[in-house]
Amino acid sequence: MEILTIDEVRKTFTNGEVKEEILKGVNLSLREGEITALVGASGSGKSTLLTIAAGLQPTTDGQVRFEGKNITTMKSEQVRKIRATKFGFIFQFAHLVPFLTVEEQLMLMLNVSESKIKKYEQIKEIDKILKLVEMDHRKNAYPASLSGGEKQRVAIARAIIHKPKVLFADEPTASLDSKRSKDVMTLIQNLTKTLNIASLMVTHDEEMLSFADYIIKMSDGQIMQKV
Ligand SMILES: Nc1ncnc2c1ncn2[C@@H]1O[C@H](COP(=O)(O)OP(=O)(O)O)[C@@H](O)[C@H]1O
Ligand SMILES: [Mg+2]
Repeated sequence: MEILTIDEVRKTFTNGEVKEEILKGVNLSLREGEITALVGASGSGKSTLLTIAAGLQPTTDGQVRFEGKNITTMKSEQVRKIRATKFGFIFQFAHLVPFLTVEEQLMLMLNVSESKIKKYEQIKEIDKILKLVEMDHRKNAYPASLSGGEKQRVAIARAIIHKPKVLFADEPTASLDSKRSKDVMTLIQNLTKTLNIASLMVTHDEEMLSFADYIIKMSDGQIMQKV
């Protein structure tokens, strides 16, 4: 099922006197259980498109619809709530909180997403997710003692602990070596399928494209090619 649709989205940035159109009428649909990879040269507008799709910045024109509702015209509090409860995010770096253990990072996320479940159920849920990402043996560890790949696994656990419908990943493997990148992508692929998430992933890395169900190439603010 199509869960998020981007319809004729345009984005213009104004730098002083100069107006620049960064997205020039982009159309895209994300479906449950599928990874859509977004590739293209640096500066082609990939991150801008991802942040607009996630309701992190407004469009200049066009619509983003999540579960059929246009989020571009919603009140910011409503969009914030959708982001916190229905969307998950992974970036190039894990951005873990240095003074929280692995378990506490996930507990924090459950609080941000206003999870209604009781504390002991939260702990059970966290255990379950940490097993999925094979980090349950490190639940009491602090970020400083984790490797880059382990940190990214925790970041993935944090991105899905609240059972999001859409996962946004901007260059999730860019700081990892080839083996760890493949491990992280295998994990994202498995989670996308088993949890029926719609995943949008920006990547530079050709090797990661084999994990995608769809590949979309952007060039100069437009979609050039769908594979
Ligand atoms: N907030 C902003 N203000 C002005 N220009 C921006 C802003 N965000 C992005 N841009 C410009 O938009 C273009 C596309 O950026 P981006 O979406 O980050 O590209 P990509 O992720 O494909 O490398 C770049 O030229 C960038 O400088
Ligand atoms: Mg980018």
